[in-house]
Amino acid sequence: MDALGVIGVGALARAMVLALHRAWPETAFHLSPRNALIAAQLQDAVGASVHGTNQQVADTCRTVIIGVRPAQLQSLAAEVRFSAHHQLWVLSAGTPLADLQRLFAPAHVMRLMTGLAVEGGHSAISCHPPDAQVQALWQRACAAVVPLEDEAQFEASVLAVCANAWWLDQLSAMRHWLVEHTGMAPEKAQALLAHNMADVAQMLALNPERSAADLARFIGSPGTYTGLGLDHLLATEAHQPWQQALELVWARILEPK
Ligand SMILES: NC(=O)c1ccc[n+]([C@@H]2O[C@H](COP(=O)([O-])OP(=O)(O)OC[C@H]3O[C@@H](n4cnc5c(N)ncnc54)[C@H](OP(=O)(O)O)[C@@H]3O)[C@@H](O)[C@H]2O)c1
Repeated sequence: MDALGVIGVGALARAMVLALHRAWPETAFHLSPRNALIAAQLQDAVGASVHGTNQQVADTCRTVIIGVRPAQLQSLAAEVRFSAHHQLWVLSAGTPLADLQRLFAPAHVMRLMTGLAVEGGHSAISCHPPDAQVQALWQRACAAVVPLEDEAQFEASVLAVCANAWWLDQLSAMRHWLVEHTGMAPEKAQALLAHNMADVAQMLALNPERSAADLARFIGSPGTYTGLGLDHLLATEAHQPWQQALELVWARILEPK
Protein backbone atom coordinates (compact mmCIF):
# COMPACT_ATOMS: atom_id res chain seq x y z
CA MET A 1 0.00 0.00 0.00
CA ASP A 2 1.49 3.36 -1.05
CA ALA A 3 -0.47 5.68 1.22
CA LEU A 4 -2.88 5.41 4.12
CA GLY A 5 -4.91 8.28 5.52
CA VAL A 6 -6.12 8.52 9.10
CA ILE A 7 -9.00 10.78 10.08
CA GLY A 8 -9.40 10.63 13.84
CA VAL A 9 -5.89 10.07 15.15
CA GLY A 10 -6.76 8.46 18.48
CA ALA A 11 -5.40 5.63 20.59
CA LEU A 12 -6.54 2.77 18.37
CA ALA A 13 -5.63 4.44 15.05
CA ARG A 14 -2.15 5.18 16.47
CA ALA A 15 -1.65 1.50 17.38
CA MET A 16 -2.79 0.41 13.91
CA VAL A 17 -0.46 2.85 12.15
CA LEU A 18 2.50 1.55 14.16
CA ALA A 19 1.57 -2.05 13.30
CA LEU A 20 1.20 -1.30 9.59
CA HIS A 21 4.45 0.65 9.52
CA ARG A 22 6.36 -2.34 10.89
CA ALA A 23 4.80 -4.69 8.32
CA TRP A 24 4.77 -2.27 5.34
CA PRO A 25 7.55 0.29 5.99
CA GLU A 26 7.16 1.85 2.55
CA THR A 27 3.60 3.08 3.31
CA ALA A 28 3.24 6.87 3.67
CA PHE A 29 0.82 7.89 6.44
CA HIS A 30 -1.31 11.04 6.19
CA LEU A 31 -2.96 12.26 9.38
CA SER A 32 -5.85 14.57 10.20
CA PRO A 33 -5.00 17.64 12.29
CA ARG A 34 -6.69 16.93 15.65
CA ASN A 35 -4.80 15.33 18.53
CA ALA A 36 -1.46 17.05 18.11
CA LEU A 37 0.23 14.82 20.70
CA ILE A 38 -0.35 11.52 18.88
CA ALA A 39 0.25 13.16 15.50
CA ALA A 40 3.67 14.36 16.71
CA GLN A 41 4.48 10.86 18.01
CA LEU A 42 3.59 9.36 14.64
CA GLN A 43 5.59 11.99 12.78
CA ASP A 44 8.63 10.88 14.79
CA ALA A 45 7.93 7.16 14.72
CA VAL A 46 6.82 6.59 11.11
CA GLY A 47 7.46 9.90 9.35
CA ALA A 48 3.72 10.59 9.02
CA SER A 49 2.52 13.84 7.42
CA VAL A 50 0.01 15.91 9.36
CA HIS A 51 -2.47 17.80 7.17
CA GLY A 52 -4.28 21.07 7.88
CA THR A 53 -7.77 19.66 7.20
CA ASN A 54 -9.56 16.32 7.08
CA GLN A 55 -10.44 16.98 3.44
CA GLN A 56 -6.75 17.16 2.52
CA VAL A 57 -6.28 13.67 3.95
CA ALA A 58 -9.23 12.38 1.91
CA ASP A 59 -7.89 14.10 -1.22
CA THR A 60 -4.44 12.52 -0.73
CA CYS A 61 -5.35 8.91 0.11
CA ARG A 62 -7.79 6.39 -1.31
CA THR A 63 -7.63 4.19 1.78
CA VAL A 64 -8.51 6.00 4.99
CA ILE A 65 -8.88 4.78 8.58
CA ILE A 66 -11.83 6.51 10.25
CA GLY A 67 -10.71 6.44 13.89
CA VAL A 68 -13.26 8.74 15.54
CA ARG A 69 -15.70 7.66 18.25
CA PRO A 70 -19.23 6.61 17.25
CA ALA A 71 -20.79 9.92 18.38
CA GLN A 72 -18.31 11.84 16.20
CA LEU A 73 -19.17 10.05 12.94
CA GLN A 74 -22.11 12.24 11.88
CA SER A 75 -20.26 15.54 12.09
CA LEU A 76 -17.22 14.08 10.36
CA ALA A 77 -19.34 12.72 7.52
CA ALA A 78 -21.01 16.10 7.09
CA GLU A 79 -17.63 17.77 6.76
CA VAL A 80 -15.60 15.53 4.43
CA ARG A 81 -16.39 14.52 0.83
CA PHE A 82 -15.36 11.05 -0.29
CA SER A 83 -15.59 9.55 -3.79
CA ALA A 84 -16.47 6.06 -5.01
CA HIS A 85 -12.69 5.40 -5.23
CA HIS A 86 -12.27 5.66 -1.47
CA GLN A 87 -12.06 2.67 0.80
CA LEU A 88 -12.78 3.56 4.42
CA TRP A 89 -11.82 1.34 7.36
CA VAL A 90 -14.16 2.42 10.15
CA LEU A 91 -13.13 1.48 13.70
CA SER A 92 -16.24 2.67 15.55
CA ALA A 93 -18.08 -0.01 17.49
CA GLY A 94 -21.87 -0.18 17.38
CA THR A 95 -22.62 1.62 14.10
CA PRO A 96 -23.96 -0.83 11.46
CA LEU A 97 -22.30 -1.06 8.07
CA ALA A 98 -25.48 0.07 6.27
CA ASP A 99 -25.52 3.31 8.32
CA LEU A 100 -21.83 3.89 7.63
CA GLN A 101 -22.34 3.34 3.90
CA ARG A 102 -25.17 5.87 3.94
CA LEU A 103 -23.09 8.38 5.91
CA PHE A 104 -19.99 8.13 3.74
CA ALA A 105 -21.57 7.42 0.31
CA PRO A 106 -20.32 6.86 -2.32
CA ALA A 107 -17.16 5.53 -0.58
CA HIS A 108 -16.68 1.79 -0.08
CA VAL A 109 -16.84 1.08 3.67
CA MET A 110 -15.41 -1.76 5.76
CA ARG A 111 -15.42 -2.21 9.50
CA LEU A 112 -12.29 -3.25 11.42
CA MET A 113 -11.99 -4.17 15.09
CA THR A 114 -8.86 -4.83 17.11
CA GLY A 115 -7.20 -4.10 20.46
CA LEU A 116 -4.45 -1.68 21.42
CA ALA A 117 -1.84 -4.48 21.55
CA VAL A 118 -2.00 -4.51 17.76
CA GLU A 119 0.73 -1.89 18.13
CA GLY A 120 3.17 -4.73 18.85
CA GLY A 121 1.55 -7.03 16.27
CA HIS A 122 -0.07 -9.11 19.03
CA SER A 123 -3.83 -8.55 18.59
CA ALA A 124 -6.21 -10.27 16.26
CA ILE A 125 -8.11 -8.02 13.88
CA SER A 126 -11.64 -8.79 12.78
CA CYS A 127 -13.16 -7.35 9.64
CA HIS A 128 -16.61 -7.07 8.11
CA PRO A 129 -17.39 -7.74 5.37
CA PRO A 130 -14.54 -10.11 4.45
CA ASP A 131 -12.13 -8.64 1.88
CA ALA A 132 -9.21 -10.73 0.61
CA GLN A 133 -6.97 -7.75 -0.15
CA VAL A 134 -7.42 -6.07 3.20
CA GLN A 135 -6.98 -9.39 4.99
CA ALA A 136 -3.68 -10.06 3.19
CA LEU A 137 -2.45 -6.61 4.15
CA TRP A 138 -3.23 -7.09 7.83
CA GLN A 139 -2.04 -10.71 7.91
CA ARG A 140 1.51 -9.40 7.94
CA ALA A 141 0.83 -6.74 10.58
CA CYS A 142 -1.00 -8.55 13.39
CA ALA A 143 -1.39 -11.92 15.11
CA ALA A 144 -4.48 -13.09 13.20
CA VAL A 145 -7.13 -11.77 10.84
CA VAL A 146 -10.70 -12.89 11.49
CA PRO A 147 -13.03 -12.15 8.56
CA LEU A 148 -16.69 -12.18 9.63
CA GLU A 149 -19.53 -12.39 7.15
CA ASP A 150 -22.13 -11.95 9.89
CA GLU A 151 -22.26 -8.40 11.23
CA ALA A 152 -23.62 -9.37 14.66
CA GLN A 153 -20.63 -11.67 15.11
CA PHE A 154 -18.33 -8.87 14.04
CA GLU A 155 -20.01 -6.53 16.50
CA ALA A 156 -19.56 -9.12 19.25
CA SER A 157 -15.82 -9.21 18.55
CA VAL A 158 -15.59 -5.88 20.39
CA LEU A 159 -16.53 -7.79 23.55
CA ALA A 160 -13.30 -9.77 23.25
CA VAL A 161 -11.41 -6.47 23.04
CA CYS A 162 -13.31 -5.01 26.03
CA ALA A 163 -12.38 -8.10 28.03
CA ASN A 164 -8.71 -7.07 27.86
CA ALA A 165 -9.47 -4.38 30.43
CA TRP A 166 -11.44 -6.85 32.54
CA TRP A 167 -8.57 -9.38 32.57
CA LEU A 168 -6.25 -6.54 33.60
CA ASP A 169 -8.57 -5.57 36.44
CA GLN A 170 -8.65 -9.17 37.62
CA LEU A 171 -4.85 -9.31 37.41
CA SER A 172 -4.68 -6.12 39.44
CA ALA A 173 -6.79 -7.68 42.22
CA MET A 174 -4.52 -10.73 42.32
CA ARG A 175 -1.44 -8.52 42.32
CA HIS A 176 -2.88 -6.62 45.27
CA TRP A 177 -3.45 -9.90 47.13
CA LEU A 178 0.11 -11.11 46.56
CA VAL A 179 1.55 -7.81 47.73
CA GLU A 180 -0.70 -7.59 50.81
CA HIS A 181 -0.31 -11.20 51.91
CA THR A 182 3.31 -11.93 51.12
CA GLY A 183 5.03 -8.55 50.90
CA MET A 184 6.09 -9.30 47.30
CA ALA A 185 7.23 -6.20 45.40
CA PRO A 186 4.28 -4.94 43.28
CA GLU A 187 6.29 -4.98 40.04
CA LYS A 188 7.45 -8.54 40.72
CA ALA A 189 3.89 -9.67 41.43
CA GLN A 190 2.65 -8.01 38.26
CA ALA A 191 5.42 -9.52 36.10
CA LEU A 192 4.75 -12.98 37.54
CA LEU A 193 1.04 -12.77 36.83
CA ALA A 194 1.62 -11.32 33.36
CA HIS A 195 3.94 -14.19 32.41
CA ASN A 196 1.37 -16.70 33.53
CA MET A 197 -1.32 -14.89 31.59
CA ALA A 198 0.88 -15.23 28.50
CA ASP A 199 1.17 -18.96 29.30
CA VAL A 200 -2.62 -19.24 29.02
CA ALA A 201 -2.61 -17.84 25.49
CA GLN A 202 0.31 -20.11 24.64
CA MET A 203 -1.51 -23.19 25.94
CA LEU A 204 -4.59 -22.37 23.90
CA ALA A 205 -2.45 -21.84 20.79
CA LEU A 206 -0.61 -25.15 21.32
CA ASN A 207 -3.85 -27.08 21.85
CA PRO A 208 -6.37 -25.71 19.34
CA GLU A 209 -8.41 -28.92 19.46
CA ARG A 210 -9.04 -28.64 23.22
CA SER A 211 -11.57 -26.30 24.80
CA ALA A 212 -10.52 -23.77 27.44
CA ALA A 213 -12.66 -25.61 30.03
CA ASP A 214 -10.95 -28.89 29.18
CA LEU A 215 -7.50 -27.31 29.59
CA ALA A 216 -8.54 -25.73 32.89
CA ARG A 217 -9.60 -29.12 34.23
CA PHE A 218 -6.44 -30.72 32.83
CA ILE A 219 -4.24 -28.32 34.84
CA GLY A 220 -6.62 -28.16 37.78
CA SER A 221 -7.08 -31.92 38.13
CA PRO A 222 -8.71 -33.25 41.32
CA GLY A 223 -6.45 -33.23 44.35
CA THR A 224 -4.17 -30.44 43.05
CA TYR A 225 -3.91 -26.93 44.51
CA THR A 226 -5.08 -25.58 41.15
CA GLY A 227 -8.07 -27.91 41.24
CA LEU A 228 -8.99 -26.72 44.73
CA GLY A 229 -9.18 -23.11 43.54
CA LEU A 230 -10.94 -24.05 40.31
CA ASP A 231 -13.61 -26.03 42.20
CA HIS A 232 -14.22 -23.00 44.43
CA LEU A 233 -14.54 -20.63 41.46
CA LEU A 234 -16.95 -23.00 39.70
CA ALA A 235 -19.03 -23.63 42.86
CA THR A 236 -19.40 -19.90 43.50
CA GLU A 237 -20.18 -19.19 39.80
CA ALA A 238 -17.34 -16.69 39.58
CA HIS A 239 -18.03 -16.39 35.84
CA GLN A 240 -21.46 -14.82 36.49
CA PRO A 241 -20.35 -11.16 36.85
CA TRP A 242 -18.35 -11.57 33.63
CA GLN A 243 -21.44 -12.87 31.82
CA GLN A 244 -23.35 -9.89 33.17
CA ALA A 245 -20.67 -7.49 31.95
CA LEU A 246 -20.96 -9.08 28.48
CA GLU A 247 -24.77 -8.67 28.54
CA LEU A 248 -24.47 -5.06 29.70
CA VAL A 249 -22.03 -4.02 26.99
CA TRP A 250 -23.86 -5.99 24.29
CA ALA A 251 -27.15 -4.25 25.13
CA ARG A 252 -25.40 -0.86 24.93
CA ILE A 253 -23.82 -1.71 21.58
CA LEU A 254 -27.23 -2.67 20.16
CA GLU A 255 -28.97 0.51 21.39
CA PRO A 256 -30.15 2.66 18.46
CA LYS A 257 -27.76 5.58 18.00
N1 LIG B 1 -9.36 2.17 22.21
C1 LIG B 1 -9.72 0.90 22.09
O1 LIG B 1 -9.16 0.01 22.75
C2 LIG B 1 -10.81 0.50 21.12
C3 LIG B 1 -11.11 -0.86 21.00
C4 LIG B 1 -12.09 -1.25 20.08
C5 LIG B 1 -12.73 -0.30 19.31
N2 LIG B 1 -12.44 1.00 19.46
C6 LIG B 1 -13.15 1.95 18.60
O2 LIG B 1 -12.19 2.76 17.97
C7 LIG B 1 -12.68 4.09 17.82
C8 LIG B 1 -11.63 5.04 18.33
O3 LIG B 1 -11.37 4.77 19.69
P1 LIG B 1 -10.14 5.46 20.41
O4 LIG B 1 -10.03 4.86 21.76
O5 LIG B 1 -8.97 5.43 19.50
O6 LIG B 1 -10.72 6.94 20.53
P2 LIG B 1 -9.94 8.31 20.79
O7 LIG B 1 -8.60 8.04 21.39
O8 LIG B 1 -10.89 9.23 21.48
O9 LIG B 1 -9.69 8.86 19.31
C9 LIG B 1 -10.61 9.54 18.54
C10 LIG B 1 -9.84 10.66 17.87
O10 LIG B 1 -10.64 11.23 16.84
C11 LIG B 1 -10.45 12.63 16.87
N3 LIG B 1 -11.59 13.28 16.23
C12 LIG B 1 -12.86 13.39 16.66
N4 LIG B 1 -13.63 14.02 15.76
C13 LIG B 1 -12.82 14.33 14.72
C14 LIG B 1 -13.01 14.99 13.49
N5 LIG B 1 -14.19 15.46 13.11
N6 LIG B 1 -11.96 15.11 12.68
C15 LIG B 1 -10.73 14.65 13.02
N7 LIG B 1 -10.48 14.02 14.17
C16 LIG B 1 -11.51 13.84 15.02
C17 LIG B 1 -10.34 12.95 18.33
O11 LIG B 1 -9.76 14.21 18.49
P3 LIG B 1 -10.00 15.06 19.82
O12 LIG B 1 -9.16 14.39 20.86
O13 LIG B 1 -9.57 16.42 19.44
O14 LIG B 1 -11.48 14.96 20.11
C18 LIG B 1 -9.46 11.80 18.80
O15 LIG B 1 -8.11 12.10 18.62
C19 LIG B 1 -13.95 4.20 18.63
O16 LIG B 1 -14.99 4.38 17.73
C20 LIG B 1 -14.08 2.88 19.37
O17 LIG B 1 -15.41 2.39 19.26
C21 LIG B 1 -11.49 1.44 20.33
